[in-house]
Amino acid sequence: MSQYGNGVMEHFTNPRNVGEIKDADGVGTVGNPVCGDIMRIYIKVEDERIKEIKFKTFGCAAAIASGSVLTEMVKGKAVDEALKVTREQIIGKLGGLPRQKRHCSILAQDALKKAIDDYHARKKGLIPIRFVFESTSLKGYVKPTSLAQKILRVLPVEAKIEKWGEEIYFPINLKADLQNPQTEVEKGDIAFWPDEGGCLCLFFGATPISKEGKIVAYSDVEVVGSFTIEPMLVRMLSDGDGVRVERE
Ligand code: FES
Repeated sequence: MSQYGNGVMEHFTNPRNVGEIKDADGVGTVGNPVCGDIMRIYIKVEDERIKEIKFKTFGCAAAIASGSVLTEMVKGKAVDEALKVTREQIIGKLGGLPRQKRHCSILAQDALKKAIDDYHARKKGLIPIRFVFESTSLKGYVKPTSLAQKILRVLPVEAKIEKWGEEIYFPINLKADLQNPQTEVEKGDIAFWPDEGGCLCLFFGATPISKEGKIVAYSDVEVVGSFTIEPMLVRMLSDGDGVRVERE
């Protein structure tokens, strides 16, 4: 007998709003590190309301049902109101979830939150990009500067990474001058380094020449954006690992 009630089975067998929106205003992706399931939500916003919403998941029946019911619940809602939908409300609409499956509803809720964050970032003119590694990916944003536009034009790019302390860098084969050179950067910065054929650098933390809590690049770079720090990721990566950088 199924561990799920009728509400879950109904949404699982006939999920609503499945798919993707090509010209989405916001996209949010989350993964559950324990079960490995992934969910992505796309939103289209008009007058600060969610006009259209779609989801895709590599997830269990409870994740599919949660994505289906959440997208139904927030379609037509104001963006701020959509953020107030709770996990309990999702589970309630499904008629309950077994205790060990309650976390699956969080996947949908977190993906929606990320899609709305992404919508706000794009509204500020930030441009989303993604760094895809073998077993995971990182999302970042670049500012609409002329250097960033040059970088965006060479994407997608595939390269092998080098590590230098808690910095990773890789060639993108771009010749460009720096408008705002600096050597001191922040954790989570994405920077362009004009040496070695033109490289992108991701600063997860200290480099070998960092001192007094300041993160110092090898030589002049220009910060073009930032990424969401995944503290363990830099330790999982090794010299020679592949990365693909693409626009999201
Ligand atoms: Fe992973 Fe349900 S078991 S989301």
